[in-house]
Amino acid sequence: MEKDFEVGLNMINLSGKEAIVTGAGSGIGRGICSVLALAGANVLVTDISGKGAEDTLKHCGYGDKFRARQMDVTNENSIDEIISEHIKDRKKIDILVNNAGIIGSEGWSNREIPNSQDWTEVYEVNVRGVVKVSERVSKEFQNQKRGKIINIASIAARQGSPDSPHYSTSKAAVVSWTQSHALQMAAYNVNVNAVCPGLIWTPIWESIARKRSQFGGSLETKGLEGKKLFDQTVKAWVPLQREQTPEDIGNMVAFLASDLAENITGQSINVDGGRFTN
Ligand SMILES: NC(=O)c1ccc[n+]([C@@H]2O[C@H](COP(=O)([O-])OP(=O)(O)OC[C@H]3O[C@@H](n4cnc5c(N)ncnc54)[C@H](O)[C@@H]3O)[C@@H](O)[C@H]2O)c1
Repeated sequence: MEKDFEVGLNMINLSGKEAIVTGAGSGIGRGICSVLALAGANVLVTDISGKGAEDTLKHCGYGDKFRARQMDVTNENSIDEIISEHIKDRKKIDILVNNAGIIGSEGWSNREIPNSQDWTEVYEVNVRGVVKVSERVSKEFQNQKRGKIINIASIAARQGSPDSPHYSTSKAAVVSWTQSHALQMAAYNVNVNAVCPGLIWTPIWESIARKRSQFGGSLETKGLEGKKLFDQTVKAWVPLQREQTPEDIGNMVAFLASDLAENITGQSINVDGGRFTN
């Protein structure tokens, strides 16, 4: 068994590939960058926070495999500048990972019901941001006649949520966009897939925990705080009884970005310890 696992790992080979990851200055994006580099890819680490992107470089320590740039996925000029600069320097893009996402606007955790600013900002980043970066990079992919796009959706797309309907709706839109974009890009030999992460302790979850400890949620979590509330949620919701990690998501991204997944497109794959089975 141990041997099969080693062979499987060796088969994901991204040597010489050029990857761009959005929202990679923190949490899951950082884990994705790390795994892609480990599999051999050169990675452009982008984030709305230039400091966050630089910190990922320091944190992961992959030397000249990583470059960092500030890029706001809601801003077409920012996207065009960074993608054009990348093409000039590196001549191609092989892999785009749309990871940037938010759970609400300023003060979201202190509101029981999301307000219209929450709906607007979450839609702009989580949905329009994915579409904007995808459309810009797809121009390059159409010329190259190959490419891989992996969108980070969420298990929130699988079931409505009483306290964050704006977020669940945005992630369901990412799943739907993934299907449409896969059909648009199939003629250009481009694969478009999504990963739906389960429960991962990052700043997004810290903010969910702040909200649920004040107002409760679909679980009896009122009164619990921070990581304790998160751990209780994992216990109640995850059949495998463990939280997921940024590297778990990175592993699925690396697989979808590799030649092993060349006949997979338009899919949204849960990495959630069995929370949702369809
Ligand atoms: N943590 C979880 O349990 C979980 C579960 C399912 C899905 N997700 C999704 O995974 C992705 C990463 O989330 P995370 O948990 O690592 O959160 P995070 O807050 O640690 O990371 C999100 C990153 O996106 C960046 N960002 C925000 N707005 C941006 C913009 N306009 N342009 C570019 N970058 C921007 C932030 O600066 C931050 O570095 C998100 O799409 C999130 O919805 C997270």
